[in-house]
Amino acid sequence: MQRESVAIVTGSSTGNGFETSLLLAKNGFFTYATMRNLNKSTRIKEIAKNENLPLEVLELDVTNDKSVANTIDIIGNRHQRIDVLVNNAGYEHHGAVEELSMDEIRAQFETNFFGAVRVMKAVLPIMRKQRSGTIVNVSSIGGLIGVPLNSAYVGSKFALEGFSESMKYELEGFGIKVILIEPGAVKTNYLDNAKQAQKAMNPDSPYAEFSKKMSAGVKERFKEASSSSPNQVAEVILSAIKSEKPNTRYLVGNDAIAIKERRKNSSDSELEVWIKESLLEQKGF
Ligand SMILES: NC(=O)c1ccc[n+]([C@@H]2O[C@H](COP(=O)([O-])OP(=O)(O)OC[C@H]3O[C@@H](n4cnc5c(N)ncnc54)[C@H](OP(=O)(O)O)[C@@H]3O)[C@@H](O)[C@H]2O)c1
Repeated sequence: MQRESVAIVTGSSTGNGFETSLLLAKNGFFTYATMRNLNKSTRIKEIAKNENLPLEVLELDVTNDKSVANTIDIIGNRHQRIDVLVNNAGYEHHGAVEELSMDEIRAQFETNFFGAVRVMKAVLPIMRKQRSGTIVNVSSIGGLIGVPLNSAYVGSKFALEGFSESMKYELEGFGIKVILIEPGAVKTNYLDNAKQAQKAMNPDSPYAEFSKKMSAGVKERFKEASSSSPNQVAEVILSAIKSEKPNTRYLVGNDAIAIKERRKNSSDSELEVWIKESLLEQKGF
């Protein structure tokens, strides 16, 4: 009998993590749909039960050392192996750098960057011993280009990109693959869950006008047909995991493809003009 592959997905309560957990389970992975708040697990458990899927929900808060260690220990002890980790948990904290507090910027990195690092460090000894494994880090097209009023988020995703790209070298000898997923706009709860710099709430903020324009531009991009569904993200993740020789990076969505193409074919100043036109003047990508 073929051995069952074990997958862990972080941030599975909604959106990309929710769909990825279900898709992996439907494709035969014993999937741990982890989330920080188990009260949000009803729906995914219900689907798994109705469809008889190999899926279990466990608590995991990527910002908490104990929570990560406990959950990875439970999974490691049960299966003696971990084949796939999808580092998906994340959020966006908008705001001008001047108005973001150091705590707000740290919290952004604590989840999007250090959170992913924490879970990778917990699974790596297991993957190294078994001499195989796939780590999928959900980055963003914002991991490749700067976005107005989004320095904290973009910074956290650039960090994840550089970290992942560098790790590959030390891990390939142990049969461990590292993959980056770079979605454009995806219709999830992401925009609703995005945070704003506390100081930006002040109507006298010197960035208020700029912020209003930007926020309208971003909302439009999410409405556009070019934005993706979380199922598309999940499908790209699954096919990357199944690939014998995966690429380092996978874009998701026509907007992400258009942006990367621009990046490749433009000077920095040309790209800046295009980003301003696309987002602030709402011309689209
Ligand atoms: N949607 C997009 O347009 C888009 C584009 C590019 C990249 N992405 C990336 O895709 C990933 C998933 O986002 P999404 O679009 O699916 O948004 P979402 O629906 O808001 O889901 C975010 C998930 O992350 C979880 N999370 C946040 N902090 C956490 C923590 N400390 N520990 C564990 N889980 C935590 C949330 O849990 P709670 O329910 O408890 O809050 C939720 O399950 C993120 O990394 C995001 O940066 C999204």
